[in-house]
Amino acid sequence: MIIPVAHRAGQTQEYYFSVKLAEVRKLLAAGHDVINMGIGNPDMMPSANTLQALSQSAAQANAHGYQNYKGTPDLRNAIARYYAHMYQVSLDPETEVLPLLGSKEGITHISLTFLNDGDEVLVPELGYPAYRAVSKMVGANVKEYPLLENQGWQPDWQAMKGLVSDRTKIIWLNYPHMPTGAPATRELFEKAVRFANDHRILLCHDNPYSLILNKKPPLSLLSIDGAKDVAIELNSMSKSHNMAGWRVGWMASSKPYIDAVLSIKSNVDSGMFKPVMDAAAEALGNPDAWHQERNAVYEGRLEAATAFLDALDCTYADDQEGMFFWAKLPDEVQSAEQLVDDLLYNKHIFIAPGFIFGPKGNRYIRLSLCMPKERIWEAVHRISK
Ligand SMILES: Cc1ncc(COP(=O)(O)O)c(C=O)c1O
Repeated sequence: MIIPVAHRAGQTQEYYFSVKLAEVRKLLAAGHDVINMGIGNPDMMPSANTLQALSQSAAQANAHGYQNYKGTPDLRNAIARYYAHMYQVSLDPETEVLPLLGSKEGITHISLTFLNDGDEVLVPELGYPAYRAVSKMVGANVKEYPLLENQGWQPDWQAMKGLVSDRTKIIWLNYPHMPTGAPATRELFEKAVRFANDHRILLCHDNPYSLILNKKPPLSLLSIDGAKDVAIELNSMSKSHNMAGWRVGWMASSKPYIDAVLSIKSNVDSGMFKPVMDAAAEALGNPDAWHQERNAVYEGRLEAATAFLDALDCTYADDQEGMFFWAKLPDEVQSAEQLVDDLLYNKHIFIAPGFIFGPKGNRYIRLSLCMPKERIWEAVHRISK
């Protein structure tokens, strides 16, 4: 008999994608050409400068040892310059930036740092599954706050008030929102900061999509007056710089929050490989034209993706931002699960069902734009036959 796992491992479900992608791999192994529009794994390359910086740095004798837990000064300076350029936000590179191994681990470090057993965490009723999973893992209670579909999936602040108790410690926010693609607005961020201030709750904003298919200049929550007193922003190079596998992200906030998280994180990992940090610093200086070219490619894919959704009779908002596209099923489709399995096994097309982001997503699907547009057109062709 195997030794039993801790309660937290027993109650944490295996990530949906790790289960479903095993089915995709089986189909691939059987020789089927599966078009994977499920997962958001950028397929384009980082900039040429980034790759050159990686190899140059790796050839240096001083590149292979442990590094500072706070990352290299070069990387922190590059992050501060990037925030100034992209978001007009001023960050002290010494005290207000903490590089992370991707922003996903930041969710765990923040939760370990701020949550006691029985504390309450407000998460969007549709959102990145890790907010919920990690909160539970550290013994906190999760309360879902409603998003108003008829108001572009904005949080329902009135309803949110009713969810606050004296145990509420963290609110998770993420705009441009995944999975609905709802854009960020200054008004939304102002309301969020005011709310967090009024109720003395830590506002954690997850901001990995602000540069992807954005229709307005990108926004950081930290551009709102007073945000650094109550908020932490996570950001990431995974999507904005085509570097998902590199595992580079960071958190930005005021010194006390950064120091508190560092005290936990420095006991968990020993930072990043220096060449990865050197190359990330280089990538953060990619010119605006590089970002525009990446978005032009996504635009072409979006056209194919909307043709795919039209062929399925789905409906969708056309102001979506980010690397995914969110769409509502027509009434005649019984369930997202059935459609996903039908497409996977009969057409060899994999898409994500909306319910993996919360029960409110039951009648939705999410397409990823992370493959050449020709592949998406091939998917359109397969379902039109
Ligand atoms: C909303 C959201 N937050 C965070 C992440 C994690 O990104 P990273 O690769 O930086 O860990 C993702 C990845 O898909 C995401 O969709």
